[in-house]
Amino acid sequence: MKSKYSNQKEKINIEEIKEAAEEIKKGNLVLFPTETVYGIGANALNEEAVKKIFKAKGRAGDNPLIVHVSSIEMLEKIVSNISNIEKRLIEKFWPGPLTIIFNRKSEKIIPNAVTANLNTVGIRMPSNEVARKLIESSEVPIAAPSANISGKPSGTNVEDILEELQDKVSYILDGGFSDIGLESTVIQVVEDKINILRPGKITKEQLEEVTKNVQVDSHVLHMVKESEKVASPGMKYRHYAPNTKCIMVYSKNEQKMIDKINEITKEEEANGKKILILGKKQHLDSYISNKKWSIGSSKAEIAKNIFTLLRKVDNQGVDLVIIEGVGQEGLGLAITNRLIRACEYNYINL
Ligand code: TXA
Ligand code: MG
Repeated sequence: MKSKYSNQKEKINIEEIKEAAEEIKKGNLVLFPTETVYGIGANALNEEAVKKIFKAKGRAGDNPLIVHVSSIEMLEKIVSNISNIEKRLIEKFWPGPLTIIFNRKSEKIIPNAVTANLNTVGIRMPSNEVARKLIESSEVPIAAPSANISGKPSGTNVEDILEELQDKVSYILDGGFSDIGLESTVIQVVEDKINILRPGKITKEQLEEVTKNVQVDSHVLHMVKESEKVASPGMKYRHYAPNTKCIMVYSKNEQKMIDKINEITKEEEANGKKILILGKKQHLDSYISNKKWSIGSSKAEIAKNIFTLLRKVDNQGVDLVIIEGVGQEGLGLAITNRLIRACEYNYINL
């Protein structure tokens, strides 16, 4: 399939967004930007179209998709019994990077393929203008997972994902680099408690402004054991990990962290191994390895850079990637959650 490309980087081109919306209406797939990461979208009401997403990504059928809406009317057609806490979350954080797991309407307007047969459906209203205009012009909610082959880091810019996805979508809307760079915060409200199933830009601290009762699901930072039931099926799967072995090292004491990373480097280099360090810009001079990349100097920069960097480590001829961890406060929880998976739970916390 030859996909049509539309440049939406500097200025919105509404005519081309409408062309892409025609593809959604026809049951085809569109690659589009959101403020978090790119999505591969299909008409969420069309089961056959949604199945194409699973095929394009090689995604397990038991991993439900997020549905993207552009208005509250669209939301109300899909879900039932929006609670007071959910209403407050919507008021405060939509449009924006927060996915809420709602109860699905009993008429099952959203097909089972989207929700992996669950009685719930994850919904968000993106703030990215191209995404919103695409949904509005399509006149249907759009089901969209992150744009990547399953297991790989999510696409934060078109260049990174063009090769793996261009043959699989009918239209590409290129909105440049994603503002945030990590996927949305996924939460579920159970009675008067907010459960964070996947951390993101909307932090635990921000959610606590709505209710003090906010809990982080244990699988955010710990591996799912085989016998365990998970609140969010996506947590079971291998994710973000390059083929090269990665290890994350973190300590609140920066000097201790730098010393540990240098110690591992020395040991591994003595065994003939080649090391790549991914560290904060301000720490790079302290590392003895001669191959080192900056991940940025703030959490916001690290969030934005990390997926595109993880995609590049495999063809560097290195045996081990050592990644600096960050503290878990604020956006740090989301960064830690993604890095732990990239390192396949191989991390040292001093
Ligand atoms: O920022 C984002 O959320 C991006 C952009 C494109 O919107 N989308 C995204 O989708 O990250 P995906 O499919 O890569 O991740 C969706 C996550 C998965 O972990 C999935 O298991 C979970 O949300 N999820 C979706 N529906 C759910 C449901 N009904 N119950 C529990 N978890 C759900
Ligand atoms: Mg994903």
